[in-house]
Amino acid sequence: MTNHTPRVFSGIKPSGGLTLGNYLGAIKRFVDMQAQDFETIYCVVDLHAITVWQDPKELTDATREVAAGFLASGIDPSQSILFNQSQVPAHAELAWLFNCVARVGWMNRMTQFKDKAGKNAEQSSLGLYAYPSLMAADILLYHATHVPVGEDQKQHVELTRDIAAKFNHDFKAEGFFPQPEPIIEGPATRVMNLRDGTKKMSKSGESDMERINMTDDADKIAKKFKKAKTDPEPLPETLDGLKDRPEAKNLVDIYAGLSGLTNEQVITEYAGAGWGKFKPALADLAVEKLAPISEEMSRLMNDKAEIDRILGEGADKAEAIAQPILDQAYDITGFLRSRTR
Ligand code: AMP
Ligand code: TRP
Repeated sequence: MTNHTPRVFSGIKPSGGLTLGNYLGAIKRFVDMQAQDFETIYCVVDLHAITVWQDPKELTDATREVAAGFLASGIDPSQSILFNQSQVPAHAELAWLFNCVARVGWMNRMTQFKDKAGKNAEQSSLGLYAYPSLMAADILLYHATHVPVGEDQKQHVELTRDIAAKFNHDFKAEGFFPQPEPIIEGPATRVMNLRDGTKKMSKSGESDMERINMTDDADKIAKKFKKAKTDPEPLPETLDGLKDRPEAKNLVDIYAGLSGLTNEQVITEYAGAGWGKFKPALADLAVEKLAPISEEMSRLMNDKAEIDRILGEGADKAEAIAQPILDQAYDITGFLRSRTR
């Protein structure tokens, strides 16, 4: 049971439009891993989205839009399993077992809950607090070994490892759940807000000017980079020169992420350049990379039946892997199971 085949699992919440952070920190990496020697499973994690209020009228299309983002970026349903989480009930079922394995003290250490709930922790949903245990279920339900994510999700993958280890230990099922590795790679693992380089770029930030959406048109992208906050200094000669310059560092990271160059190569190419030169170059690069994706996304969104079909077929394939693992977890737990299916 200890030799788990290399399998990738990752997910994105349908809670508003996709951002450049999602693209560089997650989706682009998912496409890279699809081309390597992995079985790849990608999920639109709709159960996670409702940890904060989602209008039911918008959730369905938001789910399709994230799926369209995956497809338009190069996720190929004949090479990867692509589905939405709520169509595979095993996620919620394993999450319940894990709620009884994880400790309240572990949850209390999750920095994302503290950031998100802030002073309103008492008014947050219980789901928002418990969601790392659902995330652990997402990953372990497939015995996934590799989890590509942005920097902000590292702590949750570490918690997943703790849950797996405690389950295996408590139930004397050594090696049943693997120890998944977080894969946090590339030059843009934490894309920052364009108006404040100390905050993460997110779907839910107040102003649209602080993020690039994957559906922004060329004019919007150019305008947002032009207005992006910077300091008055030109670009330095070496990466060291970006220390304590969060906004400058962020734009260099974005350029590297989009171009496929390393941060060093970008700095070498633009050493001493002013923002008047760098920002338009960055905007052109972003338009060149994102425009074909956003065009393909809108084309796909005009054929919702096709997206729904892909997600439905993906859910069938996902369930075929997940159900036997859930069944074993139930057996290990000692549940009486006498139904004949
Ligand atoms: P979410 O939109 O919160 O469901 O995030 C989905 C994936 O995108 C996760 O792997 C995140 O770590 C990643 N991600 C979200 N925002 C950013 C960002 N600003 N920079 C890098 N990765 C991000
Ligand atoms: N929690 C992740 C986020 O907010 C999304 C997510 C849910 C996820 N389940 C996952 C990521 C499993 C990787 C693996 O970004």
